[in-house]
Amino acid sequence: MKPLGRLRLGVNIDHVATVRNARGGAYPNPIRAAKLAEEAGADGITAHLREDRRHISDADIEGLMANLRLPLNFEMAATAEMQAIALRHRPHAVCIVPEKREERTTEGGLEVAREENRLAHFIAPLREAGCRVSIFIAADRRQIEAAARIGAQVIELHTGAYCDAHAEGHFDARDRELAALRDMAAFAHSLGLEVHAGHGLTYETVAPVAAMPEVMELNIGHFLIGEAIFRGLGPAIGEMRRLMDEARG
Ligand code: PXP
Repeated sequence: MKPLGRLRLGVNIDHVATVRNARGGAYPNPIRAAKLAEEAGADGITAHLREDRRHISDADIEGLMANLRLPLNFEMAATAEMQAIALRHRPHAVCIVPEKREERTTEGGLEVAREENRLAHFIAPLREAGCRVSIFIAADRRQIEAAARIGAQVIELHTGAYCDAHAEGHFDARDRELAALRDMAAFAHSLGLEVHAGHGLTYETVAPVAAMPEVMELNIGHFLIGEAIFRGLGPAIGEMRRLMDEARG
């Protein structure tokens, strides 16, 4: 199967804010990073406003909405507070993610099947406000079916287990994770969902995911911000873009 279209790259700038917050000042500025990402060929900017505001702040979201030309993918937990913020800003896309206070990063996908009714009611006003609603989930048929039933337009497949297996040298497990991602991308597309993917992707792991024909967008953050220390943010993004295009063939 030929790719369904050009693969978009969403750059997640959360960890620019992590570095800033380590000292509590104004540097480095996530909005400046977003503008650099825009110049370097990013197709969108992703930012996760966590309940504890450990990286991105409310002011960052305001600044991004006011200054960005690129579409903002606003990641948030399914809480009333976040819903009100999203409805006030009306970003291009809202990605609903699970959130636990004690976790270091978003560890797994959202349990859509268990909370179907609540989530259906939760996302309806966001859709009515014109936001594209995306649900961050594991490559799991039950969750994908539930995401389609609640009226999400997009699912983002969690690539963390695949990337972890690769990093730990568990190549059989890595290949199983990859096969599940491939099958579930095709399955989600067959239900009419747009498919995105992300979490933990690096130069070493991006190609097989970028090659999946149904995947339309990758959201990548931590690795790119780390790599920017060594080669600068623009070149770090440029190399990711090159690898994605090469894999897309
Ligand atoms: N997609 C989603 C839904 C996420 O929550 C995250 C992490 O915030 C990412 C993509 C990016 O992951 P990473 O920072 O590991 O590249």
